[in-house]
Amino acid sequence: MIPNFYRTHHCNALREEHIGQTVTLAGWVNSARDHGGVIFIDLRDREGMTQVVFRPEEDAEIATRSHELRDEDVVQITGRIEKRLAGTENKNLATGTIEIVAVTLTMLNKADVLPFHLDREMSNEDLRMKYRYLDLRRERMTRNIRTRHKITTAARNYLDTEGFIEVETPILSNPTPEGARDFLVPARMHPAHFYALPQAPQQYKQLLMVAGLERYFQIARCFRDEDLRADRQPEFTQIDIEASFVKQDDIIPLVEGLLASMFKAGQGVDIPLPMPRMTYQDAMDRYGSDKPDTRFGWEITKLDDLFANTGFKIFKNVLEGGGTVRGINCKGFATVTTGQMNRLNELAVQAGLPVKALAFIKLENGEYKSPLWKVFSDDEKKAVTERMDLQEGDVVFFVAGAWEMVTTVLGRTRLEVASMMDLLKDNKALNFLWVVDFPLLAFSAEDQSWVAVHHPFTRPKAEDVALLDAGNYGKVRAEAYDVVLNGYELGGGSIRIHESDLQAKMFSVLGVTPEEQQIKFSHILEAFKFGAPPHGGLALGLDRIAMLVSGETSIREVIAFPKNNKASDLMTDSPTNVDFKQLRELYIQSTFKPKEKEEPKA
Ligand code: AMO
Repeated sequence: MIPNFYRTHHCNALREEHIGQTVTLAGWVNSARDHGGVIFIDLRDREGMTQVVFRPEEDAEIATRSHELRDEDVVQITGRIEKRLAGTENKNLATGTIEIVAVTLTMLNKADVLPFHLDREMSNEDLRMKYRYLDLRRERMTRNIRTRHKITTAARNYLDTEGFIEVETPILSNPTPEGARDFLVPARMHPAHFYALPQAPQQYKQLLMVAGLERYFQIARCFRDEDLRADRQPEFTQIDIEASFVKQDDIIPLVEGLLASMFKAGQGVDIPLPMPRMTYQDAMDRYGSDKPDTRFGWEITKLDDLFANTGFKIFKNVLEGGGTVRGINCKGFATVTTGQMNRLNELAVQAGLPVKALAFIKLENGEYKSPLWKVFSDDEKKAVTERMDLQEGDVVFFVAGAWEMVTTVLGRTRLEVASMMDLLKDNKALNFLWVVDFPLLAFSAEDQSWVAVHHPFTRPKAEDVALLDAGNYGKVRAEAYDVVLNGYELGGGSIRIHESDLQAKMFSVLGVTPEEQQIKFSHILEAFKFGAPPHGGLALGLDRIAMLVSGETSIREVIAFPKNNKASDLMTDSPTNVDFKQLRELYIQSTFKPKEKEEPKA
């Protein structure tokens, strides 16, 4: 390290071997204590803390001045290192056996009283966000930001070693369809024209393959105007990767190695490789999710054969209509409260359940509690008990209907009950897996059209191209893969279409007319005519990885300056309304009357 004029050591560097040396430290007053007229402070910097004592018999003048020290003042202190008196050591501090007897004290900057205590957990997130620069001084936050740095550095080093070249791609660009709304930027030099901020560098990275770069990566900022959740921000960061002359089985081990290097750097753990793979069909059948959390069981069980001859009308009608009956056993959930059951019903309806309440059987104190139990025949009761492994304390939920609704509702219920039973908090388990063989297309009832499950540049499986040609769109599988950890989608990618005619066909299936294709995608359709190599790639969500490595449950905890859940930055008060003159320069007129600014409550 190059020498520093403010300090000789940082606040976590000094140990007993330094006793007798004179050192200079600089940092913040973490806390000041008056012990019978003698002031002790904990001096803090990024690395840690050191105790400083101002003894009047050493220097009466600075001992007097030390009484003015307040929390978060910025000071520089020179002093002699001494061993702490026996019994006054602090085992929780790396520097806890020594202290500095101050010889000089320089006030670098006084601090006002802070709006909140740095040493207490804060639940008022708005206040934390408004004073984010203070929030980031807290040890947990500093640790998270540093962990993020470590895993990003590990990723860069790994990709560099594997021959990937880091390239920056434009932020002011054209819309890239990734399934969200675009953020638009008016172009002053082109009245009524807009740039779109990239939802991902998807098209640019493919064009870099056409350019012959062969192996590209970027720590890429992406922008998506979509509903926010704990693992979603309007601007976020991807580790974006693309390579030429690769197949799925080249990308998967490459990304496994990348993730292993990041978890090693961030958590010191070795991830067992290779990671398990599961088809999309299997993931939905067993877990009702395309990002299954496999830290606990409760897999979805098919019951169609048990009810093949049932007298229970609802199940009978569903089975005769080509639907399915499936269940999950939430082990030990018989303690469920009415409030919890209401919540589960609400979520099930949101997930598509066509009736108001989930059907269930609860076995409590040897008694089967369920409106369903009496409508089942004795054989059915026996078969359900066996197949579902229904034991004392368990609750089995049943859903009957179309496959997609049934698996989705049971998948949501499974996760919600697991959350109610605190099963999702175990972040020691690292259940990575790949989900492969995704469908290429899904029918959107809302838009009454086919939409790309990944994005329009994803390649159909060679063996399924005939299905695409035959118009059997729902059956076509994609060369696409997602990597999942503990129920979070960490990343997704695919092998791409590299032929102009196949790409044009894919756009047509998605309802993009030839005219629109020319306006929006002529660059890529044309590029594919000039010798585009076969290529593919993937993007990892860096924020999500940093969150899981840090043991956090929201990506806001690992982003230095995140937006709140209303997509606002309370610190800089963005987004903000702009004055008329600025709008006029952009040929924009606003008829919207903005609301008064909201102040976070202390
Ligand atoms: P995809 O849309 O799956 O793929 O995004 C890749 C990964 O980015 C993360 N992610 C997000 N993280 C935080 N906030 C968000 N709003 C958000 N949206 C996505 C997730 C996700 O797995 N161009 C393709 C990749 C490719 O095909 O190579 C793409 O962007 O962790």
